[in-house]
Amino acid sequence: PLTPVILSGGAGTRLWPLSRQSYPKQFLPLLDPHLSLLQQTLSRLEGVPGIGAPLMICNEAHRFLVAEQLRDQGITPGAIVLEPAARNTAPALALAALSALEGEEEAMLLIMPADHQLEDTAAFRVAVEEGRALAGQGRLVTFGVVPTRAHTGYGYIRAGEAAGSGYRVETFTEKPDQATAEQYLAAGDYYWNSGMFLMRARTLIEELARHAPEVLAAAESAWAERRADLDFTRVACPAFEAAPNISIDYAVMERTNRAVMVALEAGWSDIGAWDAVFEAQAGQQDEAGNVVQGDVLLHETRNSFIASHSRLVATLGLSDIIAVETEDAVLLANRHRMQELGALVERLGSQG
Ligand code: GDD
Ligand code: MG
Repeated sequence: PLTPVILSGGAGTRLWPLSRQSYPKQFLPLLDPHLSLLQQTLSRLEGVPGIGAPLMICNEAHRFLVAEQLRDQGITPGAIVLEPAARNTAPALALAALSALEGEEEAMLLIMPADHQLEDTAAFRVAVEEGRALAGQGRLVTFGVVPTRAHTGYGYIRAGEAAGSGYRVETFTEKPDQATAEQYLAAGDYYWNSGMFLMRARTLIEELARHAPEVLAAAESAWAERRADLDFTRVACPAFEAAPNISIDYAVMERTNRAVMVALEAGWSDIGAWDAVFEAQAGQQDEAGNVVQGDVLLHETRNSFIASHSRLVATLGLSDIIAVETEDAVLLANRHRMQELGALVERLGSQG
């Protein structure tokens, strides 16, 4: 069986002011009025052959949000593992692997971020099927997306020679600088890392032991002192806090020589920032290229995303603006500078 691991511990700061520390983006119905991004992720798994109950891994602050959103969908999780502190995805996935191995030595993990859009679920299932054979041979399978621009927020994979229905990963470069990203795009044989992975839990533990032993050691000692609390699994706090703050991409994917890539053509996008929400709703644009949500009145406004949540918002003579109004905070920004929003929100501290 295949265990879906749902990574839902991110803070989503680049979707402020809708996404808040206490209520981050994956729990919000950003693209579908009835389902949050997390719930959309879970529904994507229906119909994947041999799929097991989801293993949720999230920050303890969000445990009731996760439990409630699963309950709304009628899904019983395999486990909800709580991180006592945010240490990024490598320590989180180490815990997930340890939890899955409890149940089954041969457990295979389908790792899914909770904040992506995938338009073509059928194509996603085919890619998972293709990756499964490779993961069964002890490979770390990534799913690669053909890049459309020199985005610096993604991992870049250079695809090498064919390996089964995928390719060997020649190089994996997490978040390159702008010049390097442009070079990769021009070269033509690079893919974006979609952030989804497929591998045996055992393979992940082996690769963590080799490339990030401090991460594995901290996760193992935190896991050794776990305890059940209602439907949740808590791990030891100081032990987990000792883990380095590092993503799986830097900790393992850039270093391993066991990675392969399966191409994914499924209308993938990372709903990382407001410009991505805007682009994901391109079908709803008006003649001037605007997307609006809520009570909004536009006059001579172009190529803008304007969302109102509590009051009427009116605009005049604007272009390329992202405006998001909420009851207690309003964002007004240049839509080409959305990647910088995280830094701005950091300055808000606890107000964010
Ligand atoms: N449980 C848990 N704990 N989840 C976390 C944590 C954590 O500490 N930190 C992040 N996550 C979750 C996020 O909620 C998201 O679902 C996923 O892990 C990935 O984290 P991001 O912070 O969104 O990563 P990224 O977008 O910068 O980069 C990753 O995704 C890109 C594609 O979207 C990398 O894998 C890139 O290589 C990739 O291109
Ligand atoms: Mg992301």
